[in-house]
Amino acid sequence: MPDPADHERTVREAFTKQASDYAERSVLSDPEKIGRLIRATEPSSKARVLDVATGPGHVAFGFAAVCDEVVGVDITRAPLEIATERNQQRSSANIHFGQADAGNLPFATASFDIVVCRLAFHHLENPSLVLREMARVCRTGGTVAVADIVVSEFPERASYQNRFERLRDPSHVRALQRSELLALVTEQGIEITDVRSGTVVQNVAQWLDLAQTPEPRADTVRKLIEADAKHDLSGTRPFSEDGELYFTHRTAIVVGRRVRSESGTTE
Ligand SMILES: C[S@@+](CC[C@H](N)C(=O)[O-])C[C@H]1O[C@@H](n2cnc3c(N)ncnc32)[C@H](O)[C@@H]1O
Repeated sequence: MPDPADHERTVREAFTKQASDYAERSVLSDPEKIGRLIRATEPSSKARVLDVATGPGHVAFGFAAVCDEVVGVDITRAPLEIATERNQQRSSANIHFGQADAGNLPFATASFDIVVCRLAFHHLENPSLVLREMARVCRTGGTVAVADIVVSEFPERASYQNRFERLRDPSHVRALQRSELLALVTEQGIEITDVRSGTVVQNVAQWLDLAQTPEPRADTVRKLIEADAKHDLSGTRPFSEDGELYFTHRTAIVVGRRVRSESGTTE
């Protein structure tokens, strides 16, 4: 059995290395994409929000502009330091950042109105445990939202994409199929109210650069994507334009209402 401490170390190494690039890249801080996620949760201005695996706080800052209070947690210190520094430059003091493992959230049961997690599920060894924690800290009737990349519903095509994603970034465990994500959310007593699909076109060179994938691994990834372009192997529809290689990430935002308490009774 793999040691969970090894994976935690891999995640910390990856996001310490990527912290400042991740904070700057517009593809990740795009206000339109963050706004779409926020609107999907229909937040009330009085809401207390938890952003799980907040990184440099892109989503947390977005919620803080429209909600009373936001807490952002992450397992990696480097992006949290960037988030904290940015927070200190703001005039309002309604965000708090802290270090925590998403699988063991240091918060009381039912202490948030909205619990959200973006672009982190594919880094988790146990997404079901994290969803259980997200549901636990959300009040009954509150909102849980997960946004992430999703892979093909066809297992071989899903494996092909997860293979090149893992080679690019060893902290990538497995992007889920949209149907798997919906099932995991439902299993935790969260009634799905909205599912939104999207796509993000990735420039392969920039995407490898963000993860700082070393050669020759980066070359293997490029070759896998080129083969995919020829033989349609993953559903990510790679293509070349002006000498640059691209592929398309599929994304899903899954939003639900927490309807079941920890004891399993419907409320
Ligand atoms: C791709 S970044 C996403 C950051 C942010 N959610 C966003 O959308 O901009 C993934 C983040 O997940 C964090 N992470 C991965 N596993 C975690 C865990 N078990 N607990 C808390 N954070 C975790 C990483 O440290 C990293 O900051």
